Amino acid sequence: MPLSPTDIEALGARAEQMVNALGTISAEPDRLVRLFLTPEHRRAADRVADWMRAAGLVVSEDALGTVRGRLTGTGPKRLLIGSHIDSVIDAGKYDGPFGVIAGILAAEHFSRSGRKLSFGLDVLAFGDEEGSRFPTTLASSSACAGAFRGETLALADRDGVTLGAAITAYGKSVEDIPAAAYAPGEAAAYVEVHIEQGPVLEVRKEPLGVVTAIIGQTYLNVAFAGEAGHAGTVPMALRRDALTGAAECIAAIEQFCRTDQDGLVGTVGYIHATPGATNVIPGQVSFTIDMRAPTDMHRKRAVADVVRQIEAIAGRRQLSLQLDVTHENRTAPCAPWLQEQIAQAIAAEGFRVFELPSGAGHDGMAMIDIADVGMVFVRCRGGISHHPDEHVALADADAGARVLLGVIENFRPLEG
Ligand code: HGY
Ligand code: MN
Ligand code: MN
Repeated sequence: MPLSPTDIEALGARAEQMVNALGTISAEPDRLVRLFLTPEHRRAADRVADWMRAAGLVVSEDALGTVRGRLTGTGPKRLLIGSHIDSVIDAGKYDGPFGVIAGILAAEHFSRSGRKLSFGLDVLAFGDEEGSRFPTTLASSSACAGAFRGETLALADRDGVTLGAAITAYGKSVEDIPAAAYAPGEAAAYVEVHIEQGPVLEVRKEPLGVVTAIIGQTYLNVAFAGEAGHAGTVPMALRRDALTGAAECIAAIEQFCRTDQDGLVGTVGYIHATPGATNVIPGQVSFTIDMRAPTDMHRKRAVADVVRQIEAIAGRRQLSLQLDVTHENRTAPCAPWLQEQIAQAIAAEGFRVFELPSGAGHDGMAMIDIADVGMVFVRCRGGISHHPDEHVALADADAGARVLLGVIENFRPLEG
């Protein structure tokens, strides 16, 4: 029985209500923190699974916690619709969940219509897009793409819990990770609806955008070891202060990225100094670096330059240095044929078609290993994201959900 027009009209309101409901599932009462394979991930996954079942989907969950809602079609291929339900620290409610919820609402429309699509529909709720718990990202979508890297099982969170141990504690088995992968050729495409997380659509006064590419990123971890000492007795000239060494590096990274004229961005989001007492010269410091640029070549050149600067500072300050690239995602181009079908769905809703790249990373960077990728961007207020003020206007949420429904309705898999 097709959803009544009012139901389709209410897509935005229903999406907002579901986003708000998921937004209450957090490890902390005063800010949204929902990390991979934690009790909060478990509760959010259960809530999403309930919504999928209520929408008429057959629900399963793989060894990395991805919740999969399945609607069978008449053909063997599946259109994958996904996003993530993990969050950054002190997150907004829409980054990730909006795309999963839009997928569930669209799938519900087709499951209730009783009409069989010529392709299957899988709605995927990934649990590790942000990489907020372990020093890696996209572990869950990589498993779906059959590209999970076994060495990441040994990576530990800040409490020393390894990913492998966390999988077991979550009630899963690492032996089952290969079973999460789609068969070669099974996926007809991967489409994700996501908030833009930037100001471009708002400046352009457009509610929606067609994503042209998801730009790549390199994460590094830098550890300096100097010499702890008494803050009152060690003369400045005799110090090997790990924290001032890190500070000089951080200022150099910012200066290097600011002077770049072609979209290079660099962020130090985390730093840890020990022993961490007011009257002790810090002997050990570690900090992270996130580097991104419009092309992989530009990013790699910039990373090499920043590494050289860090090595020079460590040498001059007689600090020992451990520098690791903990994560690298290549730029993922969105398939022109999918961009075209998304553009047609946007135009069919009466909106202008606007194309833009994604400065934020997304699960499509993993899913591109098994399927062409398309993304729909939805305007978010002030371009604010990774922040509790993240918000999507009701009309824009409705536009995003309707366009996804239109993409599925008119989806024509690439022949061959
Ligand atoms: O960091 C990113 O770009 C994404 O939000 N994980
Ligand atoms: Mn996201
Ligand atoms: Mn994010």
